Amino acid sequence: MNAHPGGEAHTRHMLELADLPKGAGILDMGAGSGEAMRLMQALGYDAHGIDLEPRSDEVMEGDFLRLPYPDGHFDAVLSQCAFFVSGNVSGALREAYRVLKPGGTLMLSDVFFEAPASVAEAAGFELLQLEDMTGTWQEYYLEALWREEDCGCEIPRGKCGYWLMISRKV
Ligand SMILES: C[S@@+](CC[C@H](N)C(=O)[O-])C[C@H]1O[C@@H](n2cnc3c(N)ncnc32)[C@H](O)[C@@H]1O
Repeated sequence: MNAHPGGEAHTRHMLELADLPKGAGILDMGAGSGEAMRLMQALGYDAHGIDLEPRSDEVMEGDFLRLPYPDGHFDAVLSQCAFFVSGNVSGALREAYRVLKPGGTLMLSDVFFEAPASVAEAAGFELLQLEDMTGTWQEYYLEALWREEDCGCEIPRGKCGYWLMISRKV
């Protein structure tokens, strides 16, 4: 099972919305098995992935709350269903902001308990696109439960939603 709602089609959708030039340097924060990273490489991007517990040799082992990259290193950051799991969404956003070039793009889909637009803006990003994926996310969990599969994180309780957002570092 994909470790994020929407699977490959969702990753492709985010990339279409971001409209990055070929060869752009992209970091997948919380890359897991590296599925999205390999897809981005196949599409012509210079994609890298980091994860605390990588499920592939191609993904670097490391903590995305302390990224081993200098400031302004990447054209874009992608993260799917990982910032919330880390328990430190604002810390993850700070690191994403730090490693992005000025004007760099953040492609994020994740669980939010607060209005996603204000979370992004508080971290210094300009919001370009926002899509509510809560329905897709609920189906994803239901399917995982039904098949007794591990979807990679605990089900959050309370009033929250799953949002896709494309933002720019300002
Ligand atoms: C639900 S999985 C999603 C994996 C991948 N993004 C995907 O969609 O297939 C969440 C991932 O975030 C990783 N993760 C959580 N906190 C992290 C941190 N502080 N640094 C690096 N990876 C982290 C976990 O190890 C896990 O692989």
